[in-house]
Amino acid sequence: MDQPGTAQRSDPAATPRDQEEESVHRALERYYRAGKPPWDTGVTPPELITLVEGHDAVPPGRALELGCGTGTNAIYLARHGWEVAAVDLIDRAVDRARERAEAAGVTVRLLHGDATRLDELDVPGPFDLFFDLSCYCGIPPHRRDAYAAGLTQRAAPGARLLMFGYGPEPVGNPVPEVASWAAGVTADELHARFAGWELLDVTPGTNSVPTFWFTLRRDA
Ligand SMILES: C[S@@+](CC[C@H](N)C(=O)[O-])C[C@H]1O[C@@H](n2cnc3c(N)ncnc32)[C@H](O)[C@@H]1O
Repeated sequence: MDQPGTAQRSDPAATPRDQEEESVHRALERYYRAGKPPWDTGVTPPELITLVEGHDAVPPGRALELGCGTGTNAIYLARHGWEVAAVDLIDRAVDRARERAEAAGVTVRLLHGDATRLDELDVPGPFDLFFDLSCYCGIPPHRRDAYAAGLTQRAAPGARLLMFGYGPEPVGNPVPEVASWAAGVTADELHARFAGWELLDVTPGTNSVPTFWFTLRRDA
């Protein structure tokens, strides 16, 4: 493991991205440049706390967070004995996550890169837990098979994937220039895309628009 909060840089800009990926990237950068994005609450969701500390807690192992933002949940996992790697597309988010991990005195392997191009990063796994809080549901649909393949290749037998996602946008796209953000995520889609995984649970979120917590388990 690297030193506390070590940020490892790949160069996502080196990989040619298509127009839709570019608009997602630009929109995300705008959010982080403007200051604290609206999703950056600094609060670990109870669903992750239950998985880590609850009655049937998963014992600590290796975790990979996809779309870690400024690191709240990667830091939480590290504090609870997990060996954590965490990836985000936006360098400002990763830089902030590194500062926060250092301040917290925990070791988190922070990677600037693309969750749909994990082969470009040094994250061989195998991982026992994947955590995704609202990253996958914003990824352009044509990149999602690559995301699923990357996790499947790196999953230990029986690994969990805990994912929170927005459902398909029912009333039009809130950010019209990013067409794929209206796609959201559904249980049917995950079931179809994650071959070799069992969809264990789907629990609706408490938001005013449709959201879901999905739990998947890689076949043993
Ligand atoms: C809605 S934000 C949530 C951030 C963080 N999980 C949180 O809850 O604070 C989605 C995050 O996923 C990141 N992201 C989006 N697409 C990504 C990709 N292809 N690879 C890695 N990170 C990505 C964004 O930069 C952003 O930080």
